[in-house]
Amino acid sequence: MLTIRPATFDEILALRHAVLRAGRPLESAYYPGDERGDGRHWGAWMSEELVACVSLYTVEGPSTQLRGAATAPAWRRQGIGEKLMRTAIADWWADGAAPRDLWCNARVAAVTLYERLGFVAEGERFEVPQIGPHQRMRWVAP
Ligand SMILES: CC(C)(COP(=O)(O)OP(=O)(O)OC[C@H]1O[C@@H](n2cnc3c(N)ncnc32)[C@H](O)[C@@H]1OP(=O)(O)O)[C@@H](O)C(=O)NCCC(=O)NCCS
Repeated sequence: MLTIRPATFDEILALRHAVLRAGRPLESAYYPGDERGDGRHWGAWMSEELVACVSLYTVEGPSTQLRGAATAPAWRRQGIGEKLMRTAIADWWADGAAPRDLWCNARVAAVTLYERLGFVAEGERFEVPQIGPHQRMRWVAP
């Protein structure tokens, strides 16, 4: 059974590292603010196994940045990432203290997924060293 719930940084770090920073040091999977416990995190579990994670951070603006979306390879294309991000966005939207402006830098392969979630592309694609082409996207309230 799939369980989606808020998670701690310690719960999601290993999966984020394995999917998004494979072969690089564990510290490369820390984002600004993680050591201070700044982000909010969500996870999707199948039984006891964490299979997907995503995080939201308050950043400049202030705005909210969605980062670190990752689904373990064996569990992809089953709608888990979409369900998880819908939950994270709904929780964020319900939190009146969180900055309303939500955005992400999407890997180009994930753009259609973010469009399904209500994000729209903003500006030109750009290259992130060692990772690949990205597209900044902004979430538009339905
Ligand atoms: C992007 C990611 C989190 C999606 O998770 P998921 O649980 O497979 O998501 P869903 O099943 O809800 O949606 C699948 C969609 O993800 C997108 N996608 C992006 N990269 C993908 C990948 N490597 N494999 C499969 N789907 C991918 C596609 O748009 C796909 O939609 P489609 O099946 O209609 O083509 C997952 O593929 C992943 O961890 N990829 C590697 C890391 C990554 O790119 N993270 C996003 C950073 S912006």
